Amino acid sequence: MFSPLEPFKLERYFAQHEFSAQMLLCTSDCESMTIDELCELDRKHGGDGGQLGSTWLGYTESRGNPVLREAISKLYTDIDPDSILLHSGAEEAILNFYLAMIRPGQTVIVNTPCYQSLREIPRALGATVLPWELRLDGAELRWALDMAELGSLLGSAGHNPLVVLNMPHNPTGALLSRDEFEELVRLCRLYGATLFMDEVYRNLEFDEADRLPAACEAYEKAVSLSVLSKAWGLAGLRIGWLASKDTETLAKVAAVKDYNSICASAPSEALALLAICQTHPIIEANRKRCAKNRLAFSDFFAKHCELFGWIPPVAGSVAFPRLKSKMSADDLAAELLRDTGVLLLPGSNYSYDPAFFRIGLGRNNVPAALSIFDEWITENEPRYLAGVLA
Ligand SMILES: Cc1ncc(COP(=O)(O)O)c(C=O)c1O
Repeated sequence: MFSPLEPFKLERYFAQHEFSAQMLLCTSDCESMTIDELCELDRKHGGDGGQLGSTWLGYTESRGNPVLREAISKLYTDIDPDSILLHSGAEEAILNFYLAMIRPGQTVIVNTPCYQSLREIPRALGATVLPWELRLDGAELRWALDMAELGSLLGSAGHNPLVVLNMPHNPTGALLSRDEFEELVRLCRLYGATLFMDEVYRNLEFDEADRLPAACEAYEKAVSLSVLSKAWGLAGLRIGWLASKDTETLAKVAAVKDYNSICASAPSEALALLAICQTHPIIEANRKRCAKNRLAFSDFFAKHCELFGWIPPVAGSVAFPRLKSKMSADDLAAELLRDTGVLLLPGSNYSYDPAFFRIGLGRNNVPAALSIFDEWITENEPRYLAGVLA
């Protein structure tokens, strides 16, 4: 690193509250399960339950277990197992990718607000980071990126630019349209840019017709990032991967991985194989849960529309409503946590407008936590309304 990494605000916030708050109403991961439940799901669908006891506990292959990589490659239509590079979670993959690719002075265009590591690591490595901001459209109904703006950012970016995008998006739940995605690929190709697409919320589209192609299949210089933490709800496995047809880039990242985790955990790889084989039932259950919880949030925000602006998410397991009060979402989150034990995530953790806050859609206890929030805000509404902005 050329300059020290700034503290990761969101991760510090969760480090402080995740295991002490009574109910989390802002998680990005979907509901998880036990090892027994995962093995049982596998048996129910004709598998052998993983035979975890016979898993060898030596080092594993550094690119990832070949059987697991083959299973992962089948999640795509045209990706072979050698185009997959396994990592310990998405976070390791982000760090390794940047360490392999960034040179001081290089331009990195990053959509913001964003998961902090996507913009902070290239900054610390000496890159010039240009934000490409998601903005609310005039009617505040949709978060959108301006493609013409990307064109001008790329026009001023110099040699070998990198475009970094997270879609479906954390924290807004935004998703590019198919036309916008095609324009993104066209512009990257025109300017010779590498595209790093963080797709960790892919497969959680509320309408499956909105699902975009994986970037690694649409563009020869794209690297797609995925992980079992979100759509599969298996964050504790710490299994993520990069997928790309650009084998030279993957080889560079693999060389950095030798200085990091070296290889993935053997029991996690064994369990990941079960999860990948059960992708359909696991993800369908999580999609349904997110859809049901999105409806509950829509009702809540309709009831309290004087106080909150609701921008329904298009995809993923999070959304980013707005508090229409002079009091900030930091005040709201602190008071709600103090009085009820329910946790929200203020937008200040994304270094964003403190009127916004993140909510999570993926957990079973969302209706229970939301009804506590409802009761509390009904009681406290006059105080917040007294500060409502025009
Ligand atoms: C957009 C995005 N990318 C990467 C990650 C890191 O994922 P993991 O915790 O599985 O490493 C997260 C986690 O919240 C995320 O939201």
